[in-house]
Parts: sequence; structure tokens; C-alpha cells
Amino acid sequence: MKWNALSILLFILSLSIFLFSACDDGRIYEHTVQNAGDGRVLKLTGRLAGCEKWTEDYSVVVAGFNGKSEYAVMTKSVSSAAADAVQQVVMAGIGEEVSTVELCVINKLRKRVLTFLSMDCAFFADDTLYMDAGTLDVSMYATIQDQLFNTTCANCHGASTQAAAGLYLTAGHSYAALLNQPSTVMPGELLLKPHDAENSLLYRLLSTDITASWSYDHSKEVLSETMQQLVADWIEGGAEK
Ligand code: HEC
Repeated sequence: MKWNALSILLFILSLSIFLFSACDDGRIYEHTVQNAGDGRVLKLTGRLAGCEKWTEDYSVVVAGFNGKSEYAVMTKSVSSAAADAVQQVVMAGIGEEVSTVELCVINKLRKRVLTFLSMDCAFFADDTLYMDAGTLDVSMYATIQDQLFNTTCANCHGASTQAAAGLYLTAGHSYAALLNQPSTVMPGELLLKPHDAENSLLYRLLSTDITASWSYDHSKEVLSETMQQLVADWIEGGAEK
């Protein structure tokens, strides 16, 4: 009886040692997997058009940012898809310091100019991050339409019942309404003169106080320097659609 109890005790002891060591094994294994996750991978799919229409100072990229700086930690360039083809862009080796991954435009210094799509890495439990961009025109003009005209200008210029000064800055109308069109407010001036930002009223009213005496002072529309520069560069680059 005595021996039996001892052997049962020994059995339980060895079983628990085995279980504990098995548990340890598990932890070490999990840890190794997490380390391998240091190189997370972003897979972006979509039909992107207009990447090549940016002037040489800018690039359309997928990029990783660390949340503290406007400068990308890592980038991978994106080029336009062949008509109607779905493309995939893969950015591998995304380290722990990267907190957001974005489809964006950067300048030559890798500084973020604007963002089309952004995802917070914290939401991903997995090592592969999937971003679906759908169908997106990321050209310079489409971006100005989307991030300047639609958000700031169209309210007065065509999105409601009226278009101030008869000028429509709504999607599908703005280009024809601006390109080489004479100004009604300042006769003799052009609204948009390709390759000549200084002589394009569109740029002058964003960058100077020229409209101070107009019935609406456009310098109230506070624009970032980045956006002003973007409009200038678009015009100087030929104002391509
Ligand atoms: C709050 C209303 C309002 C907003 C917002 C606004 N505008 Fe205007 N805009 C006007 C008015 C009013 C005029 C006519 C001024 C006049 O006749 O004195 C005008 C005139 C213009 C003209 C001159 C048109 C011509 O033929 O001479 C341009 C160009 C213009 N706006 C561009 C813009 C742009 C670009 C934005 C966005 C950054 C913008 N506007 C935002 C009210 C607005």
C-alpha cells in the first residue's frame, strides 16, 4: 500500500513536470512566431488609374508611417493598372514601429502630401494586412477635384442651386469650366493657363489676397501650403486631366 501511494505520487509529479514543460514549449514556439511577424506584409488590391500623371516631385505609393512623423518609414511605389486590370502591390517587412499603412502621395523627401486610404496596423491580428482600394482615379487633377474643389469650393460653385460667378467646380464640370477660360470677375485674366500658375486666377486667388475686394474674399478659405503648392505644380506641369 505504502509503495503504491508513493508511485502514484511520483506518477502525478512526473506528469505535472511533463505538462509544465509542454506548456513552456508552447510559449517559446508562440514567441518565435511573433518574432517572424516583425515582417508583416501589406497586400493592396485595386484598379488604380492616373499614377503616372503626377509631376516628378511626387509619387503615388503605399507607405508605412510611425504616427509621430509626416515622413514615411517605408514606401513601395505604385503604378497604374492596365485598363480594367486589378493590380496587387505587396509591401513586405513592415516592422513594429509602423503604426499606419497608407495609399498616399509623397514628395521627394518622402513627406506625406495627401492620403487616399489609411489603415491602422493595430487592427490587424494577422501578419498580412489586406487593403482594398476598389476603383480609384489617383491622378493629380482627380485629387485636386476630390480634396479641394469638392470639399471647399463646390458648395458655392455649383453643388447647390447656384454657381457663384457662373463657375462650376463640381466633378465632371470643373476642368472645362477652368481651362483657358476668361474670368468674368477680372476681364483679361484666365482662370487656368497651363504651365503658368502666376497667370492663372485659380492659383492667384488661393495664394494672394487678390480677392479681398471681391464680393467674397477667397483668402478666407484657409488652405494648407501643401495644397497651394500642389495646385501650382499641377498648373506648371501642364494642368493635365
Ligand atoms: C462662400 C462662397 C464661395 C466659396 C466657398 C468659394 N467661392 Fe469662388 N467665388 C464666390 C463668389 C461670390 C465669386 C464672385 C466674386 C465677385 O463677383 O466679386 C467667386 C468667384 C470665383 C472665381 C472667379 C471666376 C471668374 O470667372 O472670374 C474663381 C476662379 C473662384 N471663385 C474659385 C474658387 C475656388 C477655387 C474656391 C475653393 C478654394 C472657391 N472659389 C470657393 C464664392 C465662393
